[in-house]
Amino acid sequence: MQVAVTGGAGYIGSHTLIELHNKGGFQTISLDNYSNSTPDTYDRIAQITGTLPYYEKLNTADAKAVEFFFDQNKGIEGIIHFAADKSVGESVENPLKYYHNNIASLVNILKAVEKHQIKNFIFSSSCSIYGNIDDLPVREETQGSGTESPYAETKKMGERILSDFYKKHPHLNCIILRYFNPVGAHESGLIGELPLNIPNNLVPVITRTAAGEQAQMLVFGDDYNTRDGSCIRDYIHVSDIANAHVLALDHLNTGKLNKNIETYNLGTGEGVSVIEAIKSFEKVTGEKVNYKVAPKREGDVEAIFSDSSKILNEIGWKPIYSLDDMMLSAWKWQQNINSPIANN
Ligand code: WQD
Repeated sequence: MQVAVTGGAGYIGSHTLIELHNKGGFQTISLDNYSNSTPDTYDRIAQITGTLPYYEKLNTADAKAVEFFFDQNKGIEGIIHFAADKSVGESVENPLKYYHNNIASLVNILKAVEKHQIKNFIFSSSCSIYGNIDDLPVREETQGSGTESPYAETKKMGERILSDFYKKHPHLNCIILRYFNPVGAHESGLIGELPLNIPNNLVPVITRTAAGEQAQMLVFGDDYNTRDGSCIRDYIHVSDIANAHVLALDHLNTGKLNKNIETYNLGTGEGVSVIEAIKSFEKVTGEKVNYKVAPKREGDVEAIFSDSSKILNEIGWKPIYSLDDMMLSAWKWQQNINSPIANN
C-alpha cells in the first residue's frame, strides 16, 4: 500500500515510518516542512532500517502545493496525517498560527482525499480534547469539561471536520487516534523528540535536568488530590504509538470497521504521577534529578488516564513498553542528542 505520511520527519511520524518499514508491505512517502523537525531525521531512520525513506518538503497548509503533490502521486491509497503544531503553551500565545496551520492542513489533505478517493486515512488526535475529567479512566465516549487550549481545540475541530466529511463519503475509511502522553524514544537512541525549542513537557525536562542542561526542574504542584500530590498522566512509549498506526492502517485496509470512521484512545491505562515518573527515571538510569516543588501550572488537569480497551478489542493493539522502558529510552536519546551522531 502506498502511504503518504505528513509530518513524517517529526517525533511520532519518524517513529511510525520505522514501524511501517519493519512491518513491510507499505511504500511510504514522508511530507514535512521542517517547521518542527529536520531532514537529518531521515538519515537517522536509514541508519536504523537500512533504507532511506522517500520524502519531499511540503507545507500542508499550502493548498496549491498539496493539490499539486497528490495530482502528481495518484497511486496513494492511504494517508497518516501527523503534520500540525502541537505546543499547548505556544497555542495560547499564538492561537491564529494554530487555527490556520492545523485546520488548513487538514482541509487541504481532505480535499485530496476527496479528489482522488483515497480510501484510508488516519488522523493524529489528542487526549487534550477531553479537558478536565471527573469520570476516570477516559473512554472514547467520555464527555470532559472541554478543551483548555487552542491546540486542543484544533484537534477537537479536526475530529468534527472528519465526522462531517466521512458522513458524506461512506465508502472511504478513517481512524482517529487520541494520543495520551507520548514519551520516550526509539530503542536505538538514534531518533527521539528533537529539542528544537526549550521543551516544557515533563520527560524532556527530566532528561535535560539529569544531563545538566538545566540546573533544576520544577514539579508544578504537590498538593493535588492524588496519591502523592502531583499530577497524574497516562505516559505511553512513542514506539507503542507508532505501532498502533501500523495496525490501524492494516485494519483500515481490511475494510472491517464497524463504521467508516472510528475513534480510539491510545494510552497504557496506567495513571503515573510526576513524582513517580521522576523516581522511575532515577531508578533505571542511576541519575539523580534535582527538582523543586513549585506552584501549580495554569491549565494543568489534576489527573487523566485512558481506558484503551476499544482498540485492543477491535484492532488488537496493546502497549508493550513499561514506564521504565520509556525513561531509559528517553535518557539514551538525551545522551545522543549532543553527540555528532544526532547532529550529522
Ligand atoms: C505532564 C505533567 C505538568 C513539566 C500533554 C502534551 C501532549 C498531549 C497530551 C498529545 C503535568 C508536569 C511538566 C515540568 C512538571 N498529547 N510537569 N514540570 O501537560 O499533559 O500535555 O498533553 O497531543 O503530550 O500537550 O504534558 O509533559 O507538559 O506535563 O511538573 O517541567 O508534568 O504539570 O502535570 P501535558 P506535560
